[in-house]
Amino acid sequence: MEFFKAVKERRSIREFRDKKVPADKLRKILAATKAAPSAGNLQSYDVVVVKKRATIESLASAFGYHAKALAKAPVMLVFFANQQRSAKKFGRRGVDLYSVQDATIACTYAQLAIRAVGLASVWVGAFEPGLIRRVLGAQSNTIPVAILPLGYGATKPKARKRKDRAIRESY
Ligand SMILES: Cc1cc2nc3c(=O)[nH]c(=O)nc-3n(C[C@H](O)[C@H](O)[C@H](O)COP(=O)(O)O)c2cc1C
Repeated sequence: MEFFKAVKERRSIREFRDKKVPADKLRKILAATKAAPSAGNLQSYDVVVVKKRATIESLASAFGYHAKALAKAPVMLVFFANQQRSAKKFGRRGVDLYSVQDATIACTYAQLAIRAVGLASVWVGAFEPGLIRRVLGAQSNTIPVAILPLGYGATKPKARKRKDRAIRESY
């Protein structure tokens, strides 16, 4: 799918069909994720690909919204900022900013790739981070930044409106 079409057609989808994510689609999504830029090319993020039903359900139980529906997603991608990896080169800025940016950019690439292969997802930011770390046995110095439940979408919502306020030209 062409880039602008994927951007235009992406929606937050919170209900999924009971259908597996094909391995080749997942491979493409992860390749796009890996292609994301990162500070110093350090890739100061960790992505955990979760396919086990029990683990997906435990992760969803930490979500602030739509936990029940999202627990049915066939796959979840969990993006951690790896502060330690970035700190080695960038010190405080790596800890506070670059590692979080690296994880966020990787998640953005993943979300667009998900749409481009004909699948759907929602960016989940409202979760209890301690629980996510416990469920996945996360290393210290890693922060869960975003989670993408993904699969074949079961709904087709209209595009949500955007305001121009966030984009301005400088003169
Ligand atoms: C940083 C961030 C955090 C978000 N957190 C949640 C969330 O916890 N739960 C949820 O259902 N949607 C969440 N969303 C999705 C937004 O609600 C959604 O992107 C927005 O309403 C625009 O709709 P659209 O994605 O369909 O264009 C989040 C999006 C972003 C970028």
